[in-house]
Amino acid sequence: MIDYNDTVYNAKTPAEELGYYERIAGHYEEKLRGINYLGSELCFKALKEFEEKTGIIVPRDGKCIDVGAGTGMSGEELRRAGFTGVVDALEPSDNMYSIAEQKGIYSNRYSDMLSPDKETSVAANWYDFVISCGVFNNRSATSGCFPEVVRFAKKGGILAVVMNNDYWEGYFDIVIKSLEEEKVIQVKYLESVDGYCDDKAARILFLYKL
Ligand SMILES: C[S@@+](CC[C@H](N)C(=O)[O-])C[C@H]1O[C@@H](n2cnc3c(N)ncnc32)[C@H](O)[C@@H]1O
Repeated sequence: MIDYNDTVYNAKTPAEELGYYERIAGHYEEKLRGINYLGSELCFKALKEFEEKTGIIVPRDGKCIDVGAGTGMSGEELRRAGFTGVVDALEPSDNMYSIAEQKGIYSNRYSDMLSPDKETSVAANWYDFVISCGVFNNRSATSGCFPEVVRFAKKGGILAVVMNNDYWEGYFDIVIKSLEEEKVIQVKYLESVDGYCDDKAARILFLYKL
């Protein structure tokens, strides 16, 4: 029996958020279907629009990392979108990753948690495409962690992020503006769309690493 009152929004700290995912991993996908979560589908729909609008084509055979890979739903969408190259996962929850692992999508797993004051073990300037669907918020993967994820992308690489729009204003908008001013990234696509899940909008962004 799924407890829909046990939600991630009750978590107040990174440890509580990790504990939530460890606890619910076995019914995570059913839970998300129950709230009509479409984070990863929105990401790859937007990828097509981003490519048409900018003329930048993300190489389908390049190296990718799925940040907050969870049970691999975003990785499955990546494969469905025609990505054939190496896909690595950053996922701190063992129980979530044990489900993802069975899908045979990921080559390497990094179990680090993103944190604003500690570098992860992921190599710098390595990936052609860095994606993150449904991970950034104000509890665990906060705006202060964003520069760390930018570090993973090679120069000329693309970062695609889909997140709950509620956490954008006053947090991520500020960090991304300052990364742009520091000439670390360029924002190439930025949209807010309905349909992230029941009653929530998504913020979708594509960034070019300078
Ligand atoms: C809502 S799930 C998204 C999973 C997948 N990307 C998807 O679209 O289905 C969020 C994931 O982020 C992970 N996560 C939470 N805090 C994190 C952090 N600080 N650093 C990295 N991953 C984190 C959780 O363990 C969880 O698997």
